[in-house]
Amino acid sequence: MHILHVVGARPNFMKAAPVLRALSTCDSVRQTLVHTGQHYDAAMSDVFFQQLEMPQPDCNLGVGSGSHAQQTAAVMVALEPVLLDRSPDLVLVYGDVNSTVAAALVCSKLGIRLGHVEAGLRSRDRCMPEEINRLLTDQLSDLLFTHSPDADENLLREGIDAAKIHRVGNVMIDTLVRLLPEAEKHFPADLTSPYALVTLHRPSNVDDLPWLSELLQMLIELSADLNVIFPVHPRTRRQLDALCSQASTSSSRLRLLDPLPYLEFLALQRHAAFVITDSGGIQEETTFLNIPCLTVRENTERPITVTHGTNQLVGRDFDKLRTATQQILGSRSRIASSKGSSTNRVPLWDGHAAERIAQVIVRGSAK
Ligand code: UD1
Repeated sequence: MHILHVVGARPNFMKAAPVLRALSTCDSVRQTLVHTGQHYDAAMSDVFFQQLEMPQPDCNLGVGSGSHAQQTAAVMVALEPVLLDRSPDLVLVYGDVNSTVAAALVCSKLGIRLGHVEAGLRSRDRCMPEEINRLLTDQLSDLLFTHSPDADENLLREGIDAAKIHRVGNVMIDTLVRLLPEAEKHFPADLTSPYALVTLHRPSNVDDLPWLSELLQMLIELSADLNVIFPVHPRTRRQLDALCSQASTSSSRLRLLDPLPYLEFLALQRHAAFVITDSGGIQEETTFLNIPCLTVRENTERPITVTHGTNQLVGRDFDKLRTATQQILGSRSRIASSKGSSTNRVPLWDGHAAERIAQVIVRGSAK
C-alpha cells in the first residue's frame, strides 16, 4: 500500500512525524512525503524536520506565501501532477491549514482516497480561514481521525458516516510525549522563573494594529511582574515592525525572539507560569502539560481544553486578560504543586495515537 502525506505549515510537522514513524514499521506500507512549501523559512520548517527526525520530503512544491486563493490554488496546481505520477492508494492530510484543504480538493477530483488527521474540530466561526478548511476537508475525507468526543459529534451532526470516523487520540501529544525528555535539555540557561510565554499570529489579533498595540502594552505591563518571553511569528513580526514598537520594549523584561524550534519551545511551555496564545495546538499542549493557558480568541475549536480546566478564553477583552493573569500570579504556588500531574489526562492523549491510525489503515487495506 502506498501512502502519500501532504504537509505544508509548521503545525503540520509535529502531527505528521509520529504517523510517518508508526507506518514505517508496517511491512505492507510504502510512504511518500510531500511538502507544499507553505512555510519555507528555516525557522518555520527545516529545523522542525531535523528535531522531529522526519525524513526529508520526497518532493517540495515550493508554493510560498500569497493570498488565500493564490496559496490554495498554487498547492492544487503543483500537487495534481505529483499525485498523477505517484498514484498513491491513500493521501493523509493534517490539521486545518491552506495546504490541507488544497490537497483534499485535488484528491477528491482525482478519486484518491483521503484521510484527515485531526478531523472534526469546529470553532463555529466561519471568519477563520482554518474553519472553512476544516469543514471542507472533512466533507471530502474517507477516513476521519479524531482526538476527542466533541469532534465525533461535530462530524455526525454534519452527516458524516459514523463508519468513517475513528477516534484515535492526539498525534501532536505523541510527539510531545516522545520529545519531552529531550526538550528539557533545551531550556535556556539564562532564563529565571517565573515567566509567561506568549505567541500571537492569528490575523484577528495581529492584523488589527490598534488591538495589537493594546496587547503589546499589556505585555509590557505584565513584564513588571515577571519575564515575558514572546517568540514572534513572521506575520506578527511584520506587524510589530509597522508599529515601530520594539524600541519601546527594549528596556523591559519583555523579550521578543525569533520563532523557536520545537524542542526549545516545548521546554519553555513545560516550565511557564502561564501561556498567552491564539494558537490551536498550544491550547492542547498546555492541557497535556497542565499549564494555565489564556487564549486570546472569542472561541475555540478545542473545547476539551476548556472543560479540562487548563484553558481560558479571554477573547479580545483587555480587562479580562489582565484579571486572568493577576489571578494566575496570585495562585502560583498551587499551580506549581499541581504541574505535570498525570492523574487527570484527556483520554487517548497518551503518546499512541499514531499507532492507532496505522492500525486502522493497515486493517482497512487488508479487507
Ligand atoms: C498558517 C495557518 C495557521 C497556522 C499557522 C502556523 C492557514 C490558513 N493558516 O498561518 O492555521 O496556525 O500557519 O504558523 O493555512 N511567512 C514567512 N515565512 C514562512 C511562512 C510564512 O515569512 O516560513 C510569512 C509570509 O509572509 C506569509 C505570512 O507569514 O504571508 C503568513 O503565512 P501563511 O502560511 O499564509 O499563514 P500563517 O499566518 O503562518
